Amino acid sequence: MASSTITLQPAQNHQTLTICSDSAPAIRGEIRVPGDKSISHRALMLGAIAEGETQIAGLLLGEDPLSTAACFRAMGAVISELNSQQVTVRGIGLGQLQEPVTVLDAGNSGTTMRLMLGLLASQPRRFFTVTGDASLRSRPMKRVIQPLQQMGAEIWCRSGGYAPLAVQGKALKPIHFQSPIASAQVKSCILLAGLLTAGSTTVTEPALSRDHSERMLRAFGADLTTDPETYSVTVTGGATLRGQRVIVPGDISSAAFWLVAGAILPDSELLIQNVGVNPTRTGILEALALMEADITLENHRLVTGEPVADLRVRSSSLKACEIAGDLIPRLIDEIPILAVAATQATGKTVIRDAAELRVKESDRLAVMAKQLNRMGAQVNELPDGLEIIGGTALQGAEVDSDTDHRIAMSLAIAALKASGSTVIGRAEAAAVSYPDFVTTLQQLCQ
Ligand code: S3P
Repeated sequence: MASSTITLQPAQNHQTLTICSDSAPAIRGEIRVPGDKSISHRALMLGAIAEGETQIAGLLLGEDPLSTAACFRAMGAVISELNSQQVTVRGIGLGQLQEPVTVLDAGNSGTTMRLMLGLLASQPRRFFTVTGDASLRSRPMKRVIQPLQQMGAEIWCRSGGYAPLAVQGKALKPIHFQSPIASAQVKSCILLAGLLTAGSTTVTEPALSRDHSERMLRAFGADLTTDPETYSVTVTGGATLRGQRVIVPGDISSAAFWLVAGAILPDSELLIQNVGVNPTRTGILEALALMEADITLENHRLVTGEPVADLRVRSSSLKACEIAGDLIPRLIDEIPILAVAATQATGKTVIRDAAELRVKESDRLAVMAKQLNRMGAQVNELPDGLEIIGGTALQGAEVDSDTDHRIAMSLAIAALKASGSTVIGRAEAAAVSYPDFVTTLQQLCQ
């Protein structure tokens, strides 16, 4: 078996990941990935606003859910020490969030800031300020501020609609919001605001985004209806939420790195156990199937309202594919790693309708094109996507995560396939969603 040297080293305030293989390693065995990030955020938030106790097993201990926990602790929720076995949240009840004595810090997490804003705006007579890191302070917040303002919310922001934000909570009025984008963060923000709002609040999306909020809100006792034909969800305010037991499945967005690694590295076979396969998240499986990757789902089951399966991937010869339209929201976070797969596929892969990637933790279209091209790939940036000519041999290079967790991990998988040594700057970003990524990488490539 080929051997690889994988080292993480401190570099000023950051960490550099160096990956050097004499030839592409085979990865074999069984692994688990950390808990789903979206479900972890929602379990903490709903636990905090419910009455009674919520037990969370499998919580992601990444930096993003840690930010959510810190914000809700600052508003009075009692959250036990965070671990992936069992976390207990003692809820304080809807409308009972306390006014925090200082600024709430959402860190790098768009989900924390946007979802939380719906709750803050609807807490009568309390004042909140919210900020985040440099990346989050440059991400658009108008998409949630505007519909909340239509509900009567009082929110202040920097010009252009950026954090830091200030919120004077008050009773809101219900609206029917036609969202111009398929975004679970926008949808969830408005639904959470609707929980405390008298009457029925509806969000209609142009395509279906992840539905974890809808599933969990129902389980906690919210009065919620969906119309799958029109991608609409309605919440009627006033229901009491009650603490629940939530078992968080492994994150398919984290599994995606190993699915692509297993597909592109020769003689590989990997079983990834306990992965969430909610149909609003499995676009990556459909895209990899279009590319003729050998991936099978085993042991399909339902765990506290979310579909879960074990995923088996074996090496395969990938073919180029075209990805656009309604598939995009169902694989939105997997496009960086899909771009890596496309560099190894025969033919030209085209990804369109993905302009949303420009306002994620980084401009993921620009950053992936630039960094993969440094490694000898042929990637063209389109206004709303990428065009990737596959089949090029990747070479080791100096690349950079741009502080974006998914870019750091995608480049690490590309590096396994590259000749020579790849040095990934600011690789510590991976800890936002996958703190053990480098350890698992080292174990698989021993
Ligand atoms: C998320 C929704 C997605 C996704 C993000 C997590 C969520 O964002 O990119 O990583 O937990 O609701 P958008 O809904 O804004 O596309």
